[in-house]
Amino acid sequence: MILVLDFGGQYSQLIARRVRECRVFSELIPYDTPVEEIRRRNPEGIILSGGPNSVYGEGAPRVDDGLFGLDAPMLGICYGMQHMALSLGGEVGAVQIREYGRSDLIVKDHEGLFAGTPDEQKAWTSHGDAVFAAPEGFRVTAETPSVPIIAFEEPGAGRFGVQFHPEVRHTEYGMEILKNFLFETCGCKPDWTPVNIITDAVERIREQVGDRKAICGLSGGVDSSTAAMLVHRAIGDNLTCVFVDHGLLRQNEAEQVIEAFGENSEVPLVHVDSKGRFLDKLAGVTDPEAKRKIIGEEFIRTFEEEAKGIEDATFLVQGTLYSDVIESGTRDAAKIKSHHNVGGLPEVMDLDLVEPLRNLFKDEVRVVAAELGMPERLVWRQPFPGPGLAIRVIGDVTGERLEILRRADAVLQEEIRAAGLYRDLWQSFAVLPAIHSVGVMGDARTYAYPVVIRAVTSDDAMTADWARLPYDLLEKISNRIINEVPGVNRVALDITSKPPGTIEWE
Ligand code: XMP
Repeated sequence: MILVLDFGGQYSQLIARRVRECRVFSELIPYDTPVEEIRRRNPEGIILSGGPNSVYGEGAPRVDDGLFGLDAPMLGICYGMQHMALSLGGEVGAVQIREYGRSDLIVKDHEGLFAGTPDEQKAWTSHGDAVFAAPEGFRVTAETPSVPIIAFEEPGAGRFGVQFHPEVRHTEYGMEILKNFLFETCGCKPDWTPVNIITDAVERIREQVGDRKAICGLSGGVDSSTAAMLVHRAIGDNLTCVFVDHGLLRQNEAEQVIEAFGENSEVPLVHVDSKGRFLDKLAGVTDPEAKRKIIGEEFIRTFEEEAKGIEDATFLVQGTLYSDVIESGTRDAAKIKSHHNVGGLPEVMDLDLVEPLRNLFKDEVRVVAAELGMPERLVWRQPFPGPGLAIRVIGDVTGERLEILRRADAVLQEEIRAAGLYRDLWQSFAVLPAIHSVGVMGDARTYAYPVVIRAVTSDDAMTADWARLPYDLLEKISNRIINEVPGVNRVALDITSKPPGTIEWE
């Protein structure tokens, strides 16, 4: 296992992801995790991430003093390298020309991190400071025309630093560099496979839950279904799945979930019709964060009530993903929005959480789901947020507005599938803004809602690009929505990537 110490860098979670792509388990932890805790976890290697601070800045994040005394090999990236340099007796200063973007590396030493890579290579950098003097015993292994120490190492002590970002795709040999660190220096084995993830998860769930009972909030998506399957493997009949219909689902979605997981499923499913309850609480609420908190709380209260009917049920299984955790804000990463199952949870709850996917990204979950034998239709289902259409109906969430959005969304889904694009897109959906615009239909004036089409491509929802849907498909969707959905007289296309937008509008 590799621990990545997070100094709040933009790419911190990417580092963990790339390490996992090399089939080595990796976890992101706060930079100031006590050294005893790190030692207890016995990592095969430690990576210090980049960060927005200058090492000399006021309140610059510093690791626990004992960290550099650990035996585990260490790789410092950007801020992590500067911190390492300073802590081990080197010098760091501000560079005259800041480097942001592509840099041309000149590799001077191919024995350690750069083994098997060429003399000249492109790398992605983003820094205002750099190492001016390497600590004693270190050798400089690469430079750029403007930065004389862009990488250094002391292989004997297992210490390496790079000023560029090997985790970014634009760094040509980034993966080779990471692999050299993982496999040559740390001695990791690429054995973090789906089968091992499953075995590990099942073991941990058994340890946590023991003989007690759990309920699982099942939405019908790949995350909660995979979580349910893992927990079922671990504790068998002590698991009951609960599907809460909060009235914020898409057209025919509740029926589909019940059909897929109902009678024939090996895990018992309880269907709770809570439509009125959620809509009542949401009445008049327009603030996105308030909506998310209300929905998060109502979910938990509903689960608590259901758990009371099952003797000894003290655990709630959720399909929370790593990206939900990061977006909801960790201590070192800013909060973007409260995902209903993380930041949207009430402070006091009767149930303990079981979250077997909390360390995984969606694409990793899909691999696990396939390994568990789930049908392809489910493995490749596009994500749908827990708060459902409440965060796609902008402003007031009323029954009437939900119905307009449902109908428009159904047309969009049908056309995307018919065009064979469903699986290529991370998500495709409709949004209903809280405005009206003027139109003309059948020689008469209309004053009705616009519907916005949102379709994005992405690997993990952390970043996304707007999908270039073919014009004739857009034309068909637009015509059909306006002709078939009363209350809509205009269709717009969202062409915003993430960042600066987020995928959902709220
Ligand atoms: P954003 O809008 O933050 O969304 O770019 C990233 C991904 O997360 C989904 N999403 C949620 N999923 N509960 C969920 O289960 C939530 O509260 C939530 N909010 C956003 C979103 O659909 C996208 O896939």
